[in-house]
Amino acid sequence: MRRKVAVIGAGFVGATSAQRIVERELADVTLIDVVEDMPQGKALDLTEGAPLEGFDTRITGSNEMADVKGAEIVVMTAGVPRKPGMSRDDLLEVNSKIMNSVMGVVKENAPDCILINVANPLDVMTYLADKMMGLPRERIMGMAGVLDSSRLRSFIAMELDCSMEDVQAMVLGGHGDTMVPLPRFSTVSGIPIPELLPADKIEAMTKRTQGAGGEIVKLLKTGSAFYSTASAVTEMVEAILKDKKRILPVAAKLDGEYGLKGIFMGVPVKLGAKGIEQVIELKLTDEENALLKKSAEHVEKVVAELK
Ligand code: LAC
Repeated sequence: MRRKVAVIGAGFVGATSAQRIVERELADVTLIDVVEDMPQGKALDLTEGAPLEGFDTRITGSNEMADVKGAEIVVMTAGVPRKPGMSRDDLLEVNSKIMNSVMGVVKENAPDCILINVANPLDVMTYLADKMMGLPRERIMGMAGVLDSSRLRSFIAMELDCSMEDVQAMVLGGHGDTMVPLPRFSTVSGIPIPELLPADKIEAMTKRTQGAGGEIVKLLKTGSAFYSTASAVTEMVEAILKDKKRILPVAAKLDGEYGLKGIFMGVPVKLGAKGIEQVIELKLTDEENALLKKSAEHVEKVVAELK
């Protein structure tokens, strides 16, 4: 049986995610966007490169949201990206309108899907999607922690001049300036980074990670990060489709874990065929806990601004 993933939004994040998913032959992709002909054009372009890349998964473009039908996973990327100087929270009004217009159709046509939201402000848009979809918590999540952790991993590897492959990192909390990179849980081949790097270097990398999305926005000027964003989306899609049971930081609906309830925020989870199969509670220090609480308070504040 052919497997299907639907990607809503054929902008840079959506189209690049679709590209990675088909090129790795994870599933067929339906790329959906309201802009006439554009998703069809990108899908055709990717298809015409398939003989060269050597993939047999199929990609089709569509202007109909109802074409999410049959998708095991729906990746929601439709939304407006930041401009330089904006915070992700500044996108709340415009992106919640888009979310509102799309999720009803998804609910009707793909009620059994696993939903991965990528639209910003990430944790709040995932909360909104959940309000509309009413999915069990296993099947709704936001992509942010995989990207934030990958950013920290790349900074650690660059600083140590070591292989990217050997570096692991954990970043929890909301996907914003209050996110919580955890050096204690960041390692190079099992060696915690506090044993390899001085405190001031770690502090600098932590700060850079918190502002990494903004750093790219400032450089691109007309949009936000998409290559790394698409890589992170694809890692989550692969974990689910292959039932890999990866342990990854994902924006999950909390039900008392970390003393939090009802909001979505980045925490380590086990990601497999059922979606979020487990939320993992780390024993945090008082200081780490305080940072996580602060991040949660920020997410709650923005949730309260939803109309
Ligand atoms: C970023 C955006 C996609 O972190 O939130 O780059």
